[in-house]
Amino acid sequence: MMMAVQDWVTPDDPVDLRQALGCFATGITIITGTTPAGTRFGLTASSFQPVSLTPPLVLYSIRKGAASIGLVKDSGSFCVNVLRHDHAELAKRFAAPVADRFEGLEWYSGCLGCPVLPDAIASFECRLWATYDGGDHEIVVGEVAKLRRARDGNPLVYFRGEFHPIIPAAPRSA
Ligand SMILES: Cc1cc2nc3c(=O)[nH]c(=O)nc-3n(C[C@H](O)[C@H](O)[C@H](O)COP(=O)(O)O)c2cc1C
Repeated sequence: MMMAVQDWVTPDDPVDLRQALGCFATGITIITGTTPAGTRFGLTASSFQPVSLTPPLVLYSIRKGAASIGLVKDSGSFCVNVLRHDHAELAKRFAAPVADRFEGLEWYSGCLGCPVLPDAIASFECRLWATYDGGDHEIVVGEVAKLRRARDGNPLVYFRGEFHPIIPAAPRSA
């Protein structure tokens, strides 16, 4: 099948850059943490990536202008909660300027004190390993201390600027 492909352009126009990057489909996570002073934070992030198995490292990137950046650096740990197919509203809430993103939400405190969302299809509680300069973002690398995964459940996917629930397939008859 022939695809209509745009001509090569330079990345000067942020709209072109965003739209091309948006062709890379990702899962969606909510990154959570608690500072030593007890302040909770949580934000929606699609930039989660596995990095290394030995040691077990993962990363995400956070915009340097984000309100949570100071909390992220202070906390020394974070939890990556991988969202399920029906979590689009949750993803929107944790990207919106609401007073308390955790209000009315079920969560518990993990081994490092980070809020864990029990409905996530997987969660990784991480010790902060390193941060790196990534242009207008800070790259945050964590060493996984504990992890958990649900035995079933499908992911929420982000593609071309929109959420795409991957609906669980009906079980195949033998
Ligand atoms: C689907 C989606 C993915 C996002 N991914 C990221 C990301 O990877 N890094 C980031 O800094 N912001 C990301 N954002 C934006 C943040 O969630 C948003 O700016 C949020 O307000 C940041 O939290 P804060 O205001 O408490 O700092 C994403 C938003 C959406 C809707």
